[in-house]
Amino acid sequence: MQNRVWRLARTPAEGWPTDGDFVCADEPLAEVGEGQALARCIYLSLDPYQWGRRRGGAEAVGDVCHGRTVAQVVASRMDEFEEGDYVFNTLGWQTYGLMGRDVDIFGYMFPRKLDPALAPISTAVGVLGMLGLTAYSGTLVQCNPQPGETVVVSAASGGVGQVAAQLARIRGCRVVGIAGVEAKCDFVVDELGVDACVSHLSESYAEDLAAACPDGIDVYFENVGGKVYEGVLPLLNTRARISLCGMISQYGNVDGEDAGTAWQRIGAPYFERQSVAVHRLFVRNFVADYQERFLSEMAEWIRSGDVRYREDLWHGIDAVPEAFAAMLKGGNFGKTIVAIGDDPSADAETNARRESGNIVG
Ligand SMILES: NC(=O)c1ccc[n+]([C@@H]2O[C@H](COP(=O)([O-])OP(=O)(O)OC[C@H]3O[C@@H](n4cnc5c(N)ncnc54)[C@H](OP(=O)(O)O)[C@@H]3O)[C@@H](O)[C@H]2O)c1
Repeated sequence: MQNRVWRLARTPAEGWPTDGDFVCADEPLAEVGEGQALARCIYLSLDPYQWGRRRGGAEAVGDVCHGRTVAQVVASRMDEFEEGDYVFNTLGWQTYGLMGRDVDIFGYMFPRKLDPALAPISTAVGVLGMLGLTAYSGTLVQCNPQPGETVVVSAASGGVGQVAAQLARIRGCRVVGIAGVEAKCDFVVDELGVDACVSHLSESYAEDLAAACPDGIDVYFENVGGKVYEGVLPLLNTRARISLCGMISQYGNVDGEDAGTAWQRIGAPYFERQSVAVHRLFVRNFVADYQERFLSEMAEWIRSGDVRYREDLWHGIDAVPEAFAAMLKGGNFGKTIVAIGDDPSADAETNARRESGNIVG
């Protein structure tokens, strides 16, 4: 058996990923040391923050590209894990990897054993994982929307956005999503059950958003920045709250003002005039206090059908760089996951749902 692995070939020079940034090789499997286990990757999560780490130098040239994974143990010298166990861990962009007890960059202990009877195991890198907690923390903890308030969520069909939008709906808010193409906007309204969804690709985006928010905006869950954000600002109500989760439209910038500084500068006149509260969101700051509560509430919402989720599933280790670049530019539709190896735990119903449009839950 060989391990196919993607390593960082250079500190990225361009704004967005290019072929020369990553190099693939087949390598011998690592020896399993005491206190370690070898795991086979089943699902790899692709997330915008991975690009920031690479561009910022947190990942060294020659490193296995970082990524959070769901895997199956194939050989274990760890007391708590045995062959066949399903685990959440951080193997990165490779087909096999060693794991040992550790804490990941978001403050999660791993590996963590997964029970396929509770939920499809892919949810550990999706709605029940870091991105679900991100949506939960930003929406419910930071902004605390009240019934009847208007909540706007950008990138509303994406991994974080689809959860944030549904949590605001569960709270009894008027929810308006912002997304790209028509199919995504339809999904946000028809499948996620929110009140309206506006396309940022439309020339009348700002007018459309204003029309969808006749009472202004009380809460804005920010995933995108740029033009999308500028359309939101004039609609903010007095004492509106913003969870600044991300600014994906700016992650390819190479020159000029830092994205965060520009975001603050553009918004400042509105924030001061309207007493708007801006909350920077770093999900790692919520793991210790909210993870347990989040997991039990979210598992129940998934069971009851109140929260649905869509995965954008790619296939095979060779597809990883292409899927990664597509996700950063809006080519994904739902949470971006690459199926690296077989998932023996997936039942026929889950597989059938994936085949018919990726709405898994
Ligand atoms: N603060 C934290 O702790 C934390 C944790 C996790 C994620 N995040 C942030 O959460 C955000 C969403 O992450 P995700 O993993 O859920 O990704 P995602 O929403 O599944 O995928 C990114 C989406 O962003 C939209 N987008 C990309 N470029 C755009 C542009 N130029 N203009 C408008 N929209 C654009 C696209 O949707 P459309 O096609 O609909 O435009 C795309 O599908 C990111 O900003 C990420 O950095 C923050």
